[in-house]
Amino acid sequence: MLEQLKKRWKVNTISLVLIICTFALGGSLCGYLGRKLLSLLEIDRGSLWLFAYIAVMTLIWPFCVLLISIPFGQYYFFKNYLTRIWAKLNRNKQQPASIILFASGAGSNAQKIIDHFRSNQSVSVSLIVCNKPGAGVLSIAAKENIPSLIIEKEQFFRGDHYLPILNQYKPDLIVLAGFLWKIPAGLINAYPGKIINIHPALLPKYGGKGMYGQFVHQAVIDAGEKESGITIHYVDELYDHGAVILQERCAVTAEDTALTLAEKVHQLEHTHFPLVVEQILKGQKAVKNSNA
Ligand code: GRF
Repeated sequence: MLEQLKKRWKVNTISLVLIICTFALGGSLCGYLGRKLLSLLEIDRGSLWLFAYIAVMTLIWPFCVLLISIPFGQYYFFKNYLTRIWAKLNRNKQQPASIILFASGAGSNAQKIIDHFRSNQSVSVSLIVCNKPGAGVLSIAAKENIPSLIIEKEQFFRGDHYLPILNQYKPDLIVLAGFLWKIPAGLINAYPGKIINIHPALLPKYGGKGMYGQFVHQAVIDAGEKESGITIHYVDELYDHGAVILQERCAVTAEDTALTLAEKVHQLEHTHFPLVVEQILKGQKAVKNSNA
């Protein structure tokens, strides 16, 4: 047990003894001061007294051990020890990472992302943005109890019109999962490096305006391609253009139609998109923690 503590705290035997003495004396001082304080406040013994005693002890314990640590030469150990406890408490209080999904189709990718994070307390899909009233993804939002926002074209292309609403959801990542409008500069600048898109082909081929859904798959087949796939990429001001995060491939056979190819591509999307979202959020968290 003592050996374990020495390893864990990276201290020698003498320091360990001094640390244990500090804990013991600090605790005694804390108990003594706690009782004195309660008698000054004239709180009678009973359940209220016990509650107040625990509360006071919790508050003054760090000061007591810090004070006692000074004559024992263990001030720096306890300062670090308490800082670590404080950081742990704050980490547990951290808000879950927030994802805003932009989607305007059936929403199968949106559903996969929601399912993927369903039991993950540290990530939440906080809003679904859609430009098509009646789109399947809106039924998913309703079924999953996720707020949705239907946006209007002219206001969206003003760039900053929807910013105040989006900001309310403090997005860590904006995920375009079947969203066809170009993202205006105002939005890209507001969330630099935080907007990603999935495209159902291997960019830079078969991307750009008008290249969506069956049009993409038909173009791939018409061109006699032997393979297609998915591209997950950061969003910039051009259609289907930003830095590529991941590409995954599937074979295109002579029997494939736009429909069967779409199914293969959807399979790839459903497998990889949620994982990529998770990886990006993990990366952001690591950066946040190392800056903290
Ligand atoms: C996906 O194929 C995606 O690549 C593209 O739009 C489609 C959306 O499908 N951007 P769904 O609505 O998620 O089923």
